[in-house]
Amino acid sequence: MASEDTDSYSSEELFNEFDPKIAANPQGRLRAMLERSPIERTGDGSVRISGRDEVKFAFRHTEIFSSANAINIGNKVPLIPLQIDPPLQTKYRKLVDPLFSRKRMNELEPSMRELAVQFIDRFADKGGCEFNSAFAIPFPCIAFLRLMGLPLDHLDFFLELKDGIIRPEVSDGEDRQTKMNATGERIHAYFDTAIDERLAQRDDGLLSHFLDAEVDGEKLSRDEIQGICYLFLLAGLDTVTASLGCSMSYLAQHPEQRQQIVDDPSLIPSAVEELLRWESPVGGVPRLVAQDAEVAGVKLKKGDHVGIGIASANIDARGFPEPDNVDFNRRPNPHFAFGGGAHRCLGSHLARMELRVAMDEFHKRIPVYSIKPGETLRYSTGIRQVDYLPLVFGT
Ligand code: HEM
Repeated sequence: MASEDTDSYSSEELFNEFDPKIAANPQGRLRAMLERSPIERTGDGSVRISGRDEVKFAFRHTEIFSSANAINIGNKVPLIPLQIDPPLQTKYRKLVDPLFSRKRMNELEPSMRELAVQFIDRFADKGGCEFNSAFAIPFPCIAFLRLMGLPLDHLDFFLELKDGIIRPEVSDGEDRQTKMNATGERIHAYFDTAIDERLAQRDDGLLSHFLDAEVDGEKLSRDEIQGICYLFLLAGLDTVTASLGCSMSYLAQHPEQRQQIVDDPSLIPSAVEELLRWESPVGGVPRLVAQDAEVAGVKLKKGDHVGIGIASANIDARGFPEPDNVDFNRRPNPHFAFGGGAHRCLGSHLARMELRVAMDEFHKRIPVYSIKPGETLRYSTGIRQVDYLPLVFGT
């Protein structure tokens, strides 16, 4: 599939993350950025890294590109392990990595499959659905609540908290950060109560597990547990929702490729990877420069804000032959949709399993579908998501 004509973007648009027109088809803008330079200083003084090799370098060099304080999303304590640099971050990863291992996620697969089928059965014979509300939003959220050992009827409350941080609704004159801070207070209060409840009585969820977990022979403090839970809530729900929505929207608009996975479901795992590469729902991640350095001829100063461009690196021809060709047989597929280096996504095995199971069960029951006629899809930015995805089945 060809990208849009890169010349059609003004330089202002090239750096406008929040333009919905660009969000719908970001690859043209990303291609233009890559062609300008794999790393450059932008109009506001921050540094944008677009090229594959440069992105890989940034992910691997946490001594230059620090995650600590790179962003404030209403949290009062550092998000663990995301906002901690190695070597301490490595200790936290040793604690949480086994909880999200491929083996453990494979064990969860049958129950996740059952959950997916329950949701799909509610709309499979209805002729169509709004995919986000019917599936992409509740499915990962219920999966998360189960994993954490939190009550499933907290679903709506959880979604409200997550949206309050990721897409805060602000009216004229209202400040995004103030809004996020207020939601952040509610998230901390929620987990404070949940921690107290599990201190009184343990269950088999992850939250109880954290109460007894140790790093360097010391139990985790309440603040550390808060930092982990806050991050999990934000990292584990929206990303899967967005990936499901972007992938299904692509398949709804590319019937021949959809037919490939209907005819041969063994292609689903590689289709999931290729759609993660092409759609790149987490388009970029922030860093702060921790020491003066020079990367690919660009001088970086301590304190510079950096955007690491995952989505652009994922279509860089240096890493992917024929990068604009969405190929469900692409192997290898060393994309950066889950980041890279020390902070590479903790939940990638969980996310992949959720996406595989969803694709598999959906297409078994609904092999033919398209976007409801007359509807224009609208994408939001930040974490790139189709805001409203009306599907009709059978055509
Ligand atoms: C398709 C879905 C997902 C995508 C695309 C995704 C993407 C990413 C990316 C790009 C990063 C790196 C952030 C950075 O370097 O600044 C990351 C980190 C992380 N993700 Fe995911 N993620 C997904 C699902 C999940 C899930 C389901 C969880 C469940 C808990 C999760 C938990 C985390 C955590 C805890 C980190 C921080 C790791 C660290 O700093 O060591 N993610 N994710």
